[in-house]
Amino acid sequence: MPVEQKSVLIEQIERLKKEMRAIVLAHYYTLPEIQDVADIVGDSLALARAAESTDAEVIVFAGVYFMGETASILNPDKTVLMPDNHAGCPLADSCPTEEFRAFRQKHPEAIVISYINSTAEIKAESDIICTSSNAERIVRQIPEDKEIIFGPDRNLGGYVMRKLDRKMILWQGYCYVHDAFSWDVIKHAVESHPGAELIAHPECREELLQHADYVGSTSGLLKYALESSASTFIVATEPGILYEMRKRSPEKIFIPAPKSASQPWSTCTQMKQNTLVKLYECMENRTPRIVVEEPLRTAALKPIQRMLEMS
Ligand code: 13P
Ligand code: SF4
Repeated sequence: MPVEQKSVLIEQIERLKKEMRAIVLAHYYTLPEIQDVADIVGDSLALARAAESTDAEVIVFAGVYFMGETASILNPDKTVLMPDNHAGCPLADSCPTEEFRAFRQKHPEAIVISYINSTAEIKAESDIICTSSNAERIVRQIPEDKEIIFGPDRNLGGYVMRKLDRKMILWQGYCYVHDAFSWDVIKHAVESHPGAELIAHPECREELLQHADYVGSTSGLLKYALESSASTFIVATEPGILYEMRKRSPEKIFIPAPKSASQPWSTCTQMKQNTLVKLYECMENRTPRIVVEEPLRTAALKPIQRMLEMS
């Protein structure tokens, strides 16, 4: 996009923010220009907290659908807009409600913990929601003798199971962005950068996580990279986070983990559907608006509130 057009769009977005009393929230996986214009950039937990506590009248969510939906569940009286309401999360969409309900019914005594990357319907079927930042802390608080169903991400669930030495019944969903990383490919990057640290998101597979120097949520990876004494990092997550890492620590080297010999990173196409043009248009036209109707909203709110209390 020509620089001039970009600066006009940014000006218009800033004007609309004031006129509408709007706050723009963006996930770290969105495009750099979206992160630049956002009021808050964060991981899923930080953004859910921001959506819960804001006094803005309008929340504009640059992320994927479940994020806008969560903001709307938390704020029934506010207007929640998304630049692109077709930007869904394939992980969330890999867990159909009826099948999950049947899965749950096979273990009627189990506590159901669902990753925030799930639909409002799945949240409504759950006892507690978690994100990758607080999954471990939440599972720790469940009494040892209680069975746990964890969904929809098998890799995050497996990671927590190994970390806490605690068995859970896992839904077999996965994120195509993180599940694509393999140690076979990444080991070459590690070998060619002696001294570099491998840091990875828990949505990656075990075969990779077991080689990582640090495993954490998007904001966990950011914090670790800023505080570590290492100067080079191979980052196994969506490469959008590298923008903030490089901004906050320009003296360090951040290398996106390659997906294959010919693909130097693994991108979330859906996060990148949030463009400046769509952000401007959704604010100007006040659409697409995300609304979760009752009684689904109240049912999905309960486990989200439990998460916020427990973390
Ligand atoms: P976090 O924001 O919790 O790190 O999750 C990453 C992700 O895949 C969001 O969709
Ligand atoms: Fe969903 Fe994975 Fe994209 Fe996150 S990175 S929105 S989990 S597909």
